[in-house]
Amino acid sequence: MIYLDSAATSMLKPREVGEAVVRAMRTMASPGRGGHAPAMLAAETAYRCREELAGFFNAPGSENVVFTMNATHGLNIALATLVERGDRVVISGYEHNAVTRPLHMLGARVDVAAAPLFDSGATLEEFRKRLPGAKCCVCTHVSNVFGAVMPVYEIAALCAEQGVPFVLDASQSAGVLGVDMERLGAEFVAMPGHKGLLGPQGTGVLLCRGAVKPIMAGGTGSDSRSQSMPETLPDALEAGTHNIPGIAGMLAGLRWIKRRGLGAIERHERRLKDVLAGRLEGTPGLEVFSSAEPSAQAGVLSVRSACIGSEELAEALAERGVAVRAGLHCAPLAHMSAGTIEEGTVRLSLSPFNTEREAASAAEILKKLVMER
Ligand code: ALA
Repeated sequence: MIYLDSAATSMLKPREVGEAVVRAMRTMASPGRGGHAPAMLAAETAYRCREELAGFFNAPGSENVVFTMNATHGLNIALATLVERGDRVVISGYEHNAVTRPLHMLGARVDVAAAPLFDSGATLEEFRKRLPGAKCCVCTHVSNVFGAVMPVYEIAALCAEQGVPFVLDASQSAGVLGVDMERLGAEFVAMPGHKGLLGPQGTGVLLCRGAVKPIMAGGTGSDSRSQSMPETLPDALEAGTHNIPGIAGMLAGLRWIKRRGLGAIERHERRLKDVLAGRLEGTPGLEVFSSAEPSAQAGVLSVRSACIGSEELAEALAERGVAVRAGLHCAPLAHMSAGTIEEGTVRLSLSPFNTEREAASAAEILKKLVMER
């Protein structure tokens, strides 16, 4: 099978990740819940993982690294901390439901900095107009549908000028592009552990700067007499038993990325995106959402056929051994912004483990399916 659905989850993992998960299940107990060797080993693993994540993402310290279930969990905490009913929140036109649904639930007034796909200049201009007086700003680093790289460092700088807290959704960029919390001056950075970071599903990370509002309460292994959640990070946001096998796997994934090098991963995924786009562009009846500007798009490519529906095309690809995702990708706003809300798109997304040969054959299979119509 040619797996081109890494934007959903990076199913192809380094061997060490699975090994670390199994080792943790066999040898580690619950961190902060005992002085015995298996509990201490779990605590050491969680600490190492926090330390290395803090270093990799330039977070203030290991205590600012909170383990979550996924990026959505982290975004819910960030938004519950910053937003109250009626607050105006500025977001990009390419946000996922992981941002828009929590904002809806919180009763925020959502102000969309709408701009054409791959147009950084127009995006920045829209943010510049809307940021004054906003309660907070949320932006995805890379669109999960189109791979469009948003000008997040420039948007974050505009937020700093206006004193607006900035939240980065690094769901598609963590482990692929440089995410530097300090340089962004972000209040929160949320990411999954199971996409670019190559860890298991059920893992995520929220980088926090200061004050936080827990959305869950429970045991933390600390300050147990108090019926209030501890105020200090990371305990304030980590009620209940940790996913230690997941954390151990995520640490192994992070170490693999550090050995391979972020730049090499980014270049590899972009090259494969170019292989796909290069072979697909010009196919009659196929629209390919690709930017000619190399830095404007990561390893995610959407296409749309005039003659086959997206779901049907993805099904036909699956029957021929190519795994992709079709439809709205839980991001209706992104599809509205790009004008693809009716049929959605077929999304092909890459990982460090895909090869040029796989990209070329997937493109040829897709092309044939479209041309046969
Ligand atoms: N947000 C994930 C995707 O884009 C699940 O498929």
